[in-house]
Amino acid sequence: MQLKQALTEAVARLTANNVPSPRMNAELLLMFTLDCDRAYLYAHPERDLTADETSRYQSALAERLRGVPAQYITGHQEFWGMDLIVTPAVLIPRPETEHVIETVLELADEEKRAEQECPPNILRIVDVGTGSGCIALALAGELPQAEIHAIDVSTKALELARVNAVRHQLEGRIRFHEADLLTGFEENSFDFIVSNPPYVGESEEDEVQLEVRKFEPRSAVFAGPTGLEIIARLIPQASTALRPGGWLVMEISGTIVEGAKQLLKGWEELRIIDDLQEIPRVIAARKISPGMPSYRGTAAG
Ligand SMILES: C[S@@+](CC[C@H](N)C(=O)[O-])C[C@H]1O[C@@H](n2cnc3c(N)ncnc32)[C@H](O)[C@@H]1O
Repeated sequence: MQLKQALTEAVARLTANNVPSPRMNAELLLMFTLDCDRAYLYAHPERDLTADETSRYQSALAERLRGVPAQYITGHQEFWGMDLIVTPAVLIPRPETEHVIETVLELADEEKRAEQECPPNILRIVDVGTGSGCIALALAGELPQAEIHAIDVSTKALELARVNAVRHQLEGRIRFHEADLLTGFEENSFDFIVSNPPYVGESEEDEVQLEVRKFEPRSAVFAGPTGLEIIARLIPQASTALRPGGWLVMEISGTIVEGAKQLLKGWEELRIIDDLQEIPRVIAARKISPGMPSYRGTAAG
């Protein structure tokens, strides 16, 4: 069968089975099968697929038709310009999570400007619930002077995050820890605590895409009955582990934003950042800092 015909048939099957973005999926899986880029698909429409290629393409399509996310079939997902390995042991990194990275970089930049007259200080950052390592790796790449820690309760997730760190030559920059949130981390030690925690409530399970429910790790998605259970534990721990004036930056959803604000009452400053769909996506809270020198001030929210 020719490449063009294989693609046309795949798009038709995916469409008939209501798989979203059928052309994108058909192309992605063919690129994966042939180990080529999209330009190659368009440059060689008449290229014959070998029997082995046809069989592997059909298997990949069958997996997709059964609902397996394309990223678990190909084993790859792009995040912050990096190609990351993903397996069903970890959540597939989402583009919205890049807002977490942007927020940390903006805050770090504000801190740097505010502290210009002080001796340079090495930023200590911890990513809680690192999964594939996407947040820790992006921050390690962007902040070459920072000391980065990555925590997860899942051994398999940590193994994969390490693999991703090695692939991007960042293994020397990140320390990995198997822990329950921040349990065991010392007081006043971090400038930033960053997390994309599980924040979906079991009560809203029916609203979660079937593919997510069936194939992504439940412990990475669901926090408990309301969705606030993990952050309700993380916030008091963060309040201890942050240095005064340090920032807790978490991914959230529109469903938990009000609950998250309540849990952060008493923190010095609160910022909510919307995603491109204008859904509250990131909450940043600054640990109260009695007697903080005026140069730190409070940045505009
Ligand atoms: C929503 S996923 C985020 C993964 C990754 N940071 C990302 O943004 O794609 C949440 C992660 O938190 C981890 N996790 C869940 N409960 C945890 C706990 N009590 N302590 C540490 N990590 C936990 C899960 O294993 C999962 O990897």
